[in-house]
Amino acid sequence: MENKEGAGGVKGDSMDLITSIALKRGFFWPSAEIYGGKAGLFSYGHLGKTLKNNFDSLWRKFFIEDNKNCYEIEYSSILPEQVFIASGHLENFNDPLIECKKCHFRFRADQFIEDNLKINAGEKSIEEMNNLIVKNKLKCPNCKANDFDSAKWFNMMFPVQIGATGKDMAYLAPETAQGAFLAFKREFEATRKKLPLGIGILGKAFRNEISPRQMFFRLREFSQAELQMFFDPDEVNNLDEKTWKEILKEDLQVFPQDQKDSKKKFITIKIDELNKKYKIPKFYLLQMSKMQKFYLEILKFPKDKFRFRELNEKERAFYNKIHWDIEVYFDFFDEFKELGGIHYRADHDLSGHQKISKENLEVFYNEKKFIPHVIELSLGIDRNILAFLDLFFKEEKQNDRTIFSFPDTLAPILISVFPLVNKEGMPEKAEEIYNMLKEKTTVFYDDSASIGKRYRRADEIGVKYCITIDGDTIKDKTVTIRDRDSMKQRRVKISDLRKELGI
Ligand code: GLY
Repeated sequence: MENKEGAGGVKGDSMDLITSIALKRGFFWPSAEIYGGKAGLFSYGHLGKTLKNNFDSLWRKFFIEDNKNCYEIEYSSILPEQVFIASGHLENFNDPLIECKKCHFRFRADQFIEDNLKINAGEKSIEEMNNLIVKNKLKCPNCKANDFDSAKWFNMMFPVQIGATGKDMAYLAPETAQGAFLAFKREFEATRKKLPLGIGILGKAFRNEISPRQMFFRLREFSQAELQMFFDPDEVNNLDEKTWKEILKEDLQVFPQDQKDSKKKFITIKIDELNKKYKIPKFYLLQMSKMQKFYLEILKFPKDKFRFRELNEKERAFYNKIHWDIEVYFDFFDEFKELGGIHYRADHDLSGHQKISKENLEVFYNEKKFIPHVIELSLGIDRNILAFLDLFFKEEKQNDRTIFSFPDTLAPILISVFPLVNKEGMPEKAEEIYNMLKEKTTVFYDDSASIGKRYRRADEIGVKYCITIDGDTIKDKTVTIRDRDSMKQRRVKISDLRKELGI
């Protein structure tokens, strides 16, 4: 499905199968598909969009509504140039670009080296990359020549001109985070000047990726769920007794830099030990604990497929002091992949904005004046959607079916309603039941093809319950409920249906 620009990095039959289901049933497809698509741009169909809405709602409930002094705002994703001078993105938000002298194909130098030499090139300098390409006589993936211009840094932001003069420069935001930093002063004042203060944004971000690849992993337009926690830096290791006691004994699944056994997926360490041995501040550990709960308890990711991975100084984003990625094991890729990160950005952004805007962004709190520090909880939503499709997918050859065993809170459609045949009063009764359930949850009405085919179609898109209306329904006011995972059926009274379905 990906064109030349976006090829590579994905393996396994399940990816092909899932992609074909996604296209056929309405999860996602390449944007402008009828024009051949464009690498790094995807659109969601009705099922993908509902899955994404469900993720957004769970994130909003967990990180905003149930999190003290946290608020969601909306931001403008076109922002003036000064914002990105202040944030450092204009100077530092670069990827290494290389161009073939013969066919002028342009691609990422680090990925080119990694694909060919199977080494990690993300931490190499431009000179080191150039040397490796020349020394190993690497060949252009397009025309096979081995004559390249020297690799150089390429800024990944999309420039836009505002208005008609062509002089007013702006950029599409490469992260929603800047929206929260720009809103901080107003939100701090509007919410009674208390810290810690969380400002969250669910929104779009844009990156002009040189070589988009691996489906939703390198998109040019994507969605983020980001929460910036602003706090007093003197309190970073000073949680209140009650909160610390609550999390102190919890285990976190981590892969720290000193973990040498690369065969181990992660090690499980008590929060207290991470604080004492690894010197991770308590406020940072609180955010890690929240994030692990979100993945294991709310999104119900399998425990053995989730971990935090510590990044070293060279791997970290330019604004970070401490950086652990949130990673999930994908069968598609046969490796752990990053879904987001917890970033200790300190005062990098507020100080930068204060300097460039000349606006005072200090607060008066705890009887002193200071610029708050920030820990960012950043998630790429599209990557999470891809993780759901990978983690909850099963192919059951013995039952001749594929299923998405989504948790109920994520399933795009929870219930399907089927009249067994389109006669003898069954469609009318089925419509009645459909209307009753539709008020409470997502329901799909399907009356085409055999009942067996309808069950398979429902399984294929992750519908949890199928309700069938048959001849007995008309006689004794009962229906069957068929469970997606066990395929077992039970007969229940229509009057008990909502209770039985838990809605
Ligand atoms: N805001 C952090 C990121 O976009 O990775």
